[in-house]
Amino acid sequence: MTNPLFDLTGRVAIVTGGNAGIGLAMARGLAEAGASVVIADLNSANSEQAKAALEISGRPVLALTTDVTVPTSVANMVAATVKEFGRVDILVNNAGISIAAPAETMTLAEWQKVIDVNMTAPFLCAQAVYPAMKDAGGGKIINIASVLAMLGAGGAANYAASKGGILQLTRSLAAAWAIDNIQVNAILPGWIDTELTLRARERRPELHDRILARTPASRWGRPQDLAGAAVFLASAAADFVNGAALTVDGGYSIMG
Ligand code: NAI
Repeated sequence: MTNPLFDLTGRVAIVTGGNAGIGLAMARGLAEAGASVVIADLNSANSEQAKAALEISGRPVLALTTDVTVPTSVANMVAATVKEFGRVDILVNNAGISIAAPAETMTLAEWQKVIDVNMTAPFLCAQAVYPAMKDAGGGKIINIASVLAMLGAGGAANYAASKGGILQLTRSLAAAWAIDNIQVNAILPGWIDTELTLRARERRPELHDRILARTPASRWGRPQDLAGAAVFLASAAADFVNGAALTVDGGYSIMG
């Protein structure tokens, strides 16, 4: 029997970028814990497949085509969720991108795009769900940062800055909305095997072994490694956890 502390039956969760990688794995974790799930992703090519994979849980799933950087698209995402399920209890700000470039030649467009998707969009999505959460008496916002919120990245200053920013956004929203019983926390994944890191490994073939050598767990992370952290932070078990940064990296970031 499921421990009631982690039971999400009757809860409604939106996972941005939920069609693939870490987002899809967290959406599956939330659905298996009982939540109805909305996956909101820009890449609609994967929607049907992702929806079908989640429906194995037996929970209702809504797949939306959403660009989290566009305020009207974000407003539609929340409106469609409320129309379908009547409420929003959980927002997972997971959609994210990486555009690597040397700091000295990075264009303003490369800088801005990553900041827009990884930092500004989570703010827009959080603002958009706030009224529904406040009216319902509370909610959970989970921001997907990165260990690069704490560590420098010489070839991806835009990405590391965006992830440092989302961590500070997490703390600020946690302070602002605790009064409304909305807890806002961050998950900091280490190196996880997804499309995003596949591209990095194609560009830098030495990356795979370098990460492996530094990771005490002696393996790369898998998307499903993040599911438990998401369920915990979305659940009543985390009602007094607010503004926290939960690292899920196999020990990567504790190495000197
Ligand atoms: P992924 O590339 O496999 O999946 C990201 C998803 O976000 C895709 O389905 C994509 O279509 C969607 N997306 C991108 N831009 C969007 C937009 N404007 N609106 C809506 N959806 C959009 O990436 P992955 O690896 O699953 O990453 C998920 C999150 O985890 C990101 O925020 C990433 O920065 C973070 N992360 C990933 C790590 C890794 O090693 N894979 C490590 C640390 C953090």
